[in-house]
Order: sequence, then C-alpha cells, then structure tokens
Amino acid sequence: MENSLIQQYRYFLKDTIRKHIDFSETDQNRGIAPPPVQKPFPAGAAIKELPKPDALNNIPGISLTDAIKNRKSRRAYSKKPVTLEELSYLLWAAQGIRQTIDTGHAYRTVPSAGCRHALETYLCVLNVEGLETGIYRYLPLEHKLLFEFAEDNLKEKIVEAVFRQPYPGKAAVTFIWTVIPYRMEWRYGLAAHKVIAIDAGHACQNLYLACEAIGAGTCAIAAYDQEAIDGLLRVDGIDEFTIYIAPVGKVKKGDQQ
Ligand SMILES: Cc1cc2nc3c(=O)[nH]c(=O)nc-3n(C[C@H](O)[C@H](O)[C@H](O)COP(=O)(O)O)c2cc1C
Repeated sequence: MENSLIQQYRYFLKDTIRKHIDFSETDQNRGIAPPPVQKPFPAGAAIKELPKPDALNNIPGISLTDAIKNRKSRRAYSKKPVTLEELSYLLWAAQGIRQTIDTGHAYRTVPSAGCRHALETYLCVLNVEGLETGIYRYLPLEHKLLFEFAEDNLKEKIVEAVFRQPYPGKAAVTFIWTVIPYRMEWRYGLAAHKVIAIDAGHACQNLYLACEAIGAGTCAIAAYDQEAIDGLLRVDGIDEFTIYIAPVGKVKKGDQQ
C-alpha cells in the first residue's frame, strides 16, 4: 500500500490532531446546546418494558475474574432463547445509564471520552423470550426497548449484511452499535473520531464479560457490508451509521470452559 496513505491512516490513531484544532471553535465552546444523549423517538412508539437493572439479582452470575478468564469469541450458539431478564442485563452492562446529569450528559456502565457516548444500540432479535422477531433499539434513559419494525427474512438479511458470516443468523439476538458522530464532534471537532472507535470497544468488551456471566457468548464483528447493514437498520449512513456488531447466544453444551 502507498506509504503516504498508510501514514494518513496511522495519523488517525495518534492524538497529534489535538495540537492543530482550535477548540474555541467547537460547537460546545461556541455555546451551542449539547445534542440529546439518546436518539429521540416518536410519541406513541411501541415500547417494550425491560426488567429494571436493579432487579438483576435473579441472575446468578460468576465472578469477574472467571468472566475475564473464560471470555472468548463464541461463534456457535445453542437454540435456547435468551430471556428478557438476560437481555436487560446485557443491555445494561454494555450501555446502561448509572447517573443522569442533565439533558446532555449521563454516565453509563462504560467510559466514554468527555462523557459524550455517541453510540446507539440496535438489536436484531431472532430468539428472545417475550419479543417478536424484528429490529429494536435500546433506550438507555428509560431502560426500555423501542420496537423499530419487523422485517421479512431478517435472518437471511443480517447474515448477508455481515458478508455471510453465519453467526448472527444463529444468534438469539445481535447487538448492532451505530454512531451519531455529532454527539462527539460537538465537543471534540475533528478529534472526535478516534475516541468514538475506542468507545465502541468498551461497550463490546462489557458485553463479552456480561455474556460469560449468564452462560452466553458473543463474537465481535467489524467486517460487515456498511451500506447493507445501515439499510437494514434504516439509518441514513451519514449522520448515523453502524460501527460494530456482536451476535449473542446461549453457550452450546460442551463449549463451556
Ligand atoms: C475489532 C474486532 C473485530 C472483529 N471482527 C471479527 C469478524 O468480523 N468476524 C469474526 O469472526 N471475528 C471477529 N473478531 C473476533 C476476533 O477474531 C477474536 O477476538 C480473535 O480471534 C481473538 O480471539 P478471542 O476473542 O477468542 O480471544 C473481531 C474482534 C475485534 C476485537
């Protein structure tokens, strides 16, 4: 590959850009109000209640040390459904809110640069107890699920959208994180994009560990057809687009550590 192109892409991983940005020009420093911490949804939308995060005591769990020790990318799942309580736990672990500060700021279970939390969590639900098949979106402020829409041949379409990697077609539910870049750009301007990518890793790692705690498994997916998955979620691909994917299913017998 051309050396200058490599240098350009490596530059993305560095923080040199911070020295070249006039931070007085960011929207935050120009006094523009922060964007909402969560993508709005229409009044009258179909909302599904989730067990509250503080009711997660019913999940026996395992020690953090064991979760870290056992964690691996799991690509084979049993046909057992994920329960709503388990799904609630996974959503809370990956993106749950632990403290709301004001309309523009909320602390979550994962860290985020400048507490900007630019991710949205969509679910491709195939086998979750109490949920019809379809695309959902997590509402972290309410800790509820928004039913986005049902989709014909969803299993086939999600597999197609990850270049025919089969795991999301076998998973009970696939987490699909989109990013709304402006949430981070509002504070950091051109220094926003590297930290968005880092933030996606935090969410997925918490999902990995939480899966281990409930006898489930996941596998990070960053190889996907951008336009196909954005089209499947019906996001615009410009101000919101997919950044990371993680299918989740109960661990197959014999695949325990
Ligand atoms: C950023 C990232 C992207 C990945 N993308 C894929 C992918 O598209 N398909 C896949 O099967 N595994 C993917 N993986 C999983 C890696 O292959 C896996 O983490 C690696 O082989 C190490 O195995 P372990 O997670 O079991 O330790 C990805 C992992 C990361 C962190």
